[in-house]
Amino acid sequence: MTFKNSVIYQIYPKSFKDSTGDGIGDLRGIIDNIPYIASLGVDYVWFNPFFPSPQRDNGYDISDYCSIDPAMGTMEDFDELVAALESHGIGVMLDMVLNHTSTDHEWFQRALAGEKKYQDYYYIRPPQPDGSLPTNWVSKFGGPAWAPFGETGDYYLHLYDPAQADLDWHNPDVRAEAAKVVNFWRNRGVHGFRFDVINVIGKGSQLLDAPLGTDDRKMYTDGPDVHAYLRELNEASFGRDEDSVTVGEMSSTSVEACAGYSNPGNHELNMVFSFHHLKVDYEDGEKWTSTPFDLAALKRVLNEWAVGMQEGDGWNALFWNNHDQPRAINRFTDPGRYRVESATMLATVIHLLRGTPFVYMGEEIGMTDPDYETISDYVDVEAHNAFASLMETGRSEREAFAIVHGKARDNARTPMQWDSGRTAGFTNGTPWLRSTNQARINVADEEAEGRILPYYRRLIALRKAQPVISQGRYLPYAMDHPEVFAYIREHGGQRLLVLTNFRAKQAEIEIPLDFTEGSILISNYPERTLDSTIRLEPYEALAILISN
Ligand code: NOJ
Repeated sequence: MTFKNSVIYQIYPKSFKDSTGDGIGDLRGIIDNIPYIASLGVDYVWFNPFFPSPQRDNGYDISDYCSIDPAMGTMEDFDELVAALESHGIGVMLDMVLNHTSTDHEWFQRALAGEKKYQDYYYIRPPQPDGSLPTNWVSKFGGPAWAPFGETGDYYLHLYDPAQADLDWHNPDVRAEAAKVVNFWRNRGVHGFRFDVINVIGKGSQLLDAPLGTDDRKMYTDGPDVHAYLRELNEASFGRDEDSVTVGEMSSTSVEACAGYSNPGNHELNMVFSFHHLKVDYEDGEKWTSTPFDLAALKRVLNEWAVGMQEGDGWNALFWNNHDQPRAINRFTDPGRYRVESATMLATVIHLLRGTPFVYMGEEIGMTDPDYETISDYVDVEAHNAFASLMETGRSEREAFAIVHGKARDNARTPMQWDSGRTAGFTNGTPWLRSTNQARINVADEEAEGRILPYYRRLIALRKAQPVISQGRYLPYAMDHPEVFAYIREHGGQRLLVLTNFRAKQAEIEIPLDFTEGSILISNYPERTLDSTIRLEPYEALAILISN
């Protein structure tokens, strides 16, 4: 099994299953549900961070990289989890948040206490001569990217929340610490690693103001040193295991940079997450807006990344959903009228593309955004900051709420819906985040009579059975079609045509004549006959295979 024919399941531990009744998911809850995870046929499970953390950014503010958050379990639970998954042939992928530490981390605390060694772990800078902040960069969660460094008069850099201080990777000691963390987990049997926002570790050695009117992200993203640092980390840690699987989360990146990060010849990472396809419902590139998604743009981006990464011998991590994104089914389709067709169509797009598919928990049962009604239903710091700043810029409470409702990360963080009960079978206590539609959408019903879960299982199995899916070349098809996203995969004597209708109405498409003789590999509607013109039903997905 290589990463190319693997499928990876993502678990947000805080929301998967609570075994203690405190309303927070935990490792024991995951262990208890391994048979379900194994039944999907996935090869790895990526876990969002479950390390000690003040939870200012839900675990992405880590105060100790080498322990388990007591709210989530113990190291013994962790070892048991690794062994139990292993017994099903499933590997563990841990989230390495090495661009920043929590300000509660010992390194930051010792820096604050005046230890020069640890001050050099972070970006601590004096104000500019005119008293302004060291640079004009803004935090990705809103507000300036600099906060006062204790009482010193200096500032420290935080590209995210003030509780997340950026580490200075120019410092070789920081790079050695990063390798040490990865090696700690390798020694506990972990061979999969996801690196959080890893393309911002290579900031320039001098931190400079972004020229007026330009995007400050350019000042610190995909810097020239990122490649060298990744190579060094690879050599000092995961690259020592033949079977390691690595994925880097790349923020505001480019195809060229990502082909570089994942080209095997460069010895950096196996694959990359990029996000441009999830920005096609941003107005003028701005997330906190409310606008229908642009299908032409979505097709363009998916195609550009498929072609570009193929040409650069890179590899995409394929995904619609994760813990940072509202559910794709709400953004791009019609879960009200066509939930089953929408979920299965979206799955088809991703699973048959060139790359490694990631399934975010709940996606495989067609979970949707919750029907929250007030801002107090949300927990995420980002949602509250966005709400406040939308109100400040003159939106009414209703408008601000509507925008947050459509874009909040908590949309994906609601508990896994196991059954139709009061807490969706997630906890015996009060869940940290409320479920709203478990009566209609839950694992028990899907297992009994659903159509989404079996469809995911088939797609996952197909990647292992059909080399055209795991290894085939990607070719665009019908790029100008206004309703259908289509592509062809080719490998050896096999050709696969994938057709997906993104609209809630029928759509016609001409197919190449030889495919009329093909066989249907998978489809989310009942059997059909193949003709040179195919009339696709609302949100229909159809994959036609020719094998010579
Ligand atoms: C990306 C993570 O996925 C997100 O949840 C987090 O807030 C930021 N990185 C900062 O660590």
